[in-house]
Amino acid sequence: SQKWVLMVTAQTPTNIAVIKYWGKRDENLILAINDSISVTLDPAHLCTTTTVAVSPAFNQDRMWLLGKEISLSGGRYQNCLREIRARANDVEDEKKGIKITKKDWENLRVHVASYNNFPTAAGLASSAAGFACLVYSLAKLMNVQEDNGRLSAIARQGSGSACRSLYGGFVKWVMGKEENGSDSIAVPLVDERHWDELVIIIAVVCSRQKETSSTSGMRETVETSALIEHRAKEVVPKRIIQMEEAIQKRDFATFTHLTCADSNQFHAVCLDTVNFLLNVSQILMVCLIFRIISCVEKWNRSEGTPQVAYTFDAGPNAVLIARNRTSTSLLLQRLLFHFPPNSETDLNSYVIGDKSLME
Ligand code: PMV
Repeated sequence: SQKWVLMVTAQTPTNIAVIKYWGKRDENLILAINDSISVTLDPAHLCTTTTVAVSPAFNQDRMWLLGKEISLSGGRYQNCLREIRARANDVEDEKKGIKITKKDWENLRVHVASYNNFPTAAGLASSAAGFACLVYSLAKLMNVQEDNGRLSAIARQGSGSACRSLYGGFVKWVMGKEENGSDSIAVPLVDERHWDELVIIIAVVCSRQKETSSTSGMRETVETSALIEHRAKEVVPKRIIQMEEAIQKRDFATFTHLTCADSNQFHAVCLDTVNFLLNVSQILMVCLIFRIISCVEKWNRSEGTPQVAYTFDAGPNAVLIARNRTSTSLLLQRLLFHFPPNSETDLNSYVIGDKSLME
């Protein structure tokens, strides 16, 4: 019968890199030029919710993002759909009287509806949560029997950073050596309980969509920056080892040092390009970033031991990682003092990676 619909809904949090991925060695497969490490946020705050549905009544793959239909014709969506379909298995729902064989999946089409509970494409890694959730929910729908590591290699083909959202806690994306990307996967380092004193605060400075895609920014950097090769070959490999050790030992001083230094170097290689940082809004954004950095740095220095690490991705929104709850409330007081709500900086909302602090 044409009447049945089978659905799966999944939720996936976003992740924030503390050692950044910036630069691809293969744009189609999305293979990075260096390893990266990230922390996955609490799904209660920044996450994507995706429902995937299959029915014999559907005659083409379709997707809606925030209620608006988007095209699935891009290579990234096609790669993810193809890879998941190739691994589909038999599915049976006795109650509904549905039986789908492995072979049927080739001819069945899916509908996808996805929502983000945070600004999309504003440098808050919405594509990370989005592609991780798409791949995960499709894999559940099609009864794919692969572990999260293998699924991460598929999510990676949607958006590089997405591979790290398949796990909670701290996660490493190993760049891998293979040309086909089979060893370019996410590996969990420690789960979310290992360092549960940390509190992540995201200061949403600007929720406008970013003007430069990370793909074109990375391409520009790889093609024109004289510093990027040094970063990828000499700096990041050492930082990865040091960061893994700092995380294992919960050494906040080293963690802060590495996180802030790596965020700054990522922005330094972006500046070391010909066309990347051109427009005024981006320059204004950089000024704001420096004001937040300076506020955090002054405080860390006056305390003697670091209280907060900062890191910025491809947008102005500050991600602040506080050592514990006490430093979190002190940090929030400082931020609200220096950047009062509705001031010219538009720093007006905070999302905190810890449920109880929202109460
Ligand atoms: O995965 P993409 O294409 O959205 O690139 C993400 C790049 C950064 O967020 C700036 C760094 C990172 O490692 O997440």
